[in-house]
Amino acid sequence: MVSSRSVPVPPHPDGVRAKFASARAELSAALIEREDEVDLVLTALVAGEHALLVGPPGCGKSLLLDSVLARTGGSKFALLLTKFTTLEEVTGPVSLRALKEDRYVRVTAGKLPEADFAFLDEVFKGSSAILNCLLKVLNERAPFHG
Ligand SMILES: Nc1ncnc2c1ncn2[C@@H]1O[C@H](COP(=O)(O)OP(=O)(O)OP(=O)(O)O)[C@@H](O)[C@H]1O
Ligand SMILES: [Mg+2]
Repeated sequence: MVSSRSVPVPPHPDGVRAKFASARAELSAALIEREDEVDLVLTALVAGEHALLVGPPGCGKSLLLDSVLARTGGSKFALLLTKFTTLEEVTGPVSLRALKEDRYVRVTAGKLPEADFAFLDEVFKGSSAILNCLLKVLNERAPFHG
């Protein structure tokens, strides 16, 4: 919402609280015995922090994160990483137009650098190039230029 003076008006806390409460109730009902994990992910969301879910196969990690992402607005980036996933799939390809001008720039539209929310499934299967890139992006929230 934007006021007449174009100063952004923050959403009313009661509305945000109600939205989170209903998302928490819906997620906890959809995922059996995952109340703690639901709270963890929603807390990370509120705090603007990262959440890492590690657990045995088929215990609902991807389902939880897919369900949370489905409830968020903004731009999203979701990718299932494998050892064959390339850096371009995460950060975008190098711009050929910029290269012709002797500049090394990535086309980041729709990729991780421009996402408000990202879900990197099976993140530890990524190559060392990808994990190194993610280290900087996740720890320092620095844009990736490599
Ligand atoms: N706690 C749960 N409540 C409801 N359904 C569940 C739960 N855990 C798993 N499932 C069901 O199992 C399916 C597989 O779960 P999911 O793919 O999220 O597992 P995962 O933890 O991401 O596994 P992997 O480590 O192999 O990626 C889900 O789509 C869902 O149908
Ligand atoms: Mg999974």
